[in-house]
Amino acid sequence: MSDKEIGTEETFPVLPSKNKGKGKAIPTKHDKEHLPWVEKYRPHTLSDLISLEYITSTLDKFIKERQFPHLLFYGPPGTGKTSTILACAKRLFGKDWNSSVMELNASDERGIDMVREDIKGFASTRKLFSTGSEFKLVILDEADGLTNIAQNALRRIVEDYAKNVRFCFICNNVQRLNPALQSRCTRFRFRPLKQDQIRSRIEEIAMAENVNITEDGIQALLKLCGGDMRRVLNILQSCSSRDVIDETVIYNCTGYPHPKDMERIMNSLANDEFSIAYSKIKIFMENLSMSLNDIITEVVNYFKIHEFPLSGETMAYFFRNLRLIEHNLNTGGNNTTQLAALIGAYKNALKKADK
Ligand SMILES: Nc1ncnc2c1ncn2[C@@H]1O[C@H](COP(=O)(O)OP(=O)(O)OP(=O)(O)O)[C@@H](O)[C@H]1O
Ligand SMILES: [Mg+2]
Repeated sequence: MSDKEIGTEETFPVLPSKNKGKGKAIPTKHDKEHLPWVEKYRPHTLSDLISLEYITSTLDKFIKERQFPHLLFYGPPGTGKTSTILACAKRLFGKDWNSSVMELNASDERGIDMVREDIKGFASTRKLFSTGSEFKLVILDEADGLTNIAQNALRRIVEDYAKNVRFCFICNNVQRLNPALQSRCTRFRFRPLKQDQIRSRIEEIAMAENVNITEDGIQALLKLCGGDMRRVLNILQSCSSRDVIDETVIYNCTGYPHPKDMERIMNSLANDEFSIAYSKIKIFMENLSMSLNDIITEVVNYFKIHEFPLSGETMAYFFRNLRLIEHNLNTGGNNTTQLAALIGAYKNALKKADK
């Protein structure tokens, strides 16, 4: 195996790029026109990934030094976990990387049979042709969904087949992965992507797609997405037919409460009598297609930036109630009943504070 075959970016063709040579693969408007933007702008090489310098440079070193360990990637959605391992696979195995990689995700069966039959079968066969690397790769995406029995069986397989196969476990919630399995892997924690780097990416994509996004539009997008690049791309694409994408377009398109609407909702909660607050907020929600879950998130955010109007103890009482309302909503609770519960909880908190 030559140094060229492993440890260089040349084994996989990069997409045509306005920024070719600057490390960013940005296809133009006419490339892959029909693809959703999350796929169209999926990074293909490690250097295309933004905001993951430490992780990509360490993986780059592993590949160059031919010391590729079992990996565990964990962290919030849309931060590049799947894209990173796919970029590694393309780099390790070249153009025909597919034949050296087994990719399993939540839509596949996650139990012991899958481990015994599929993974063991793939792991126990050696590679027939050299693709620049002597091992194969099993990617277990959404590994936190594997059953306990399957995880236990994998402990053994990971060790027994280490000569032929490297494993990459990917999950959002690392607590749900067997500690013994975790300890067999080199762990990488993915964090929400940095806002300034997401901003540059938004600007590049907006230019490539000929989309006009204003500064307050970018700010709203950054705020709503909280470091999740998939969400950024999905929102941007769904607004892309508009002549100008500003803050209002972004909030309308996502159905997320606009800061000005939130201000009105907070005023009504604090100052209106129960039945008036109830009907006002209900009309707001209906006219602007807001979900109560989003309103609750924004009520909490509101108190993060405004001074607490009540004592710590009373706010804790209010937040405990919010948690209960959120739980009820997520388990099928009715929107209007839970709206009444929200207003009741706030009014009760105010009453408690007056005593
Ligand atoms: N670090 C990044 N740099 C550039 N684009 C990114 C990055 N992370 C995510 N993206 C964009 O978001 C999309 C989704 O990324 P990816 O599938 O890698 O996320 P993930 O971390 O695996 O999410 P999940 O936990 O939901 O599976 C990609 O197609 C890509 O367009
Ligand atoms: Mg993923």
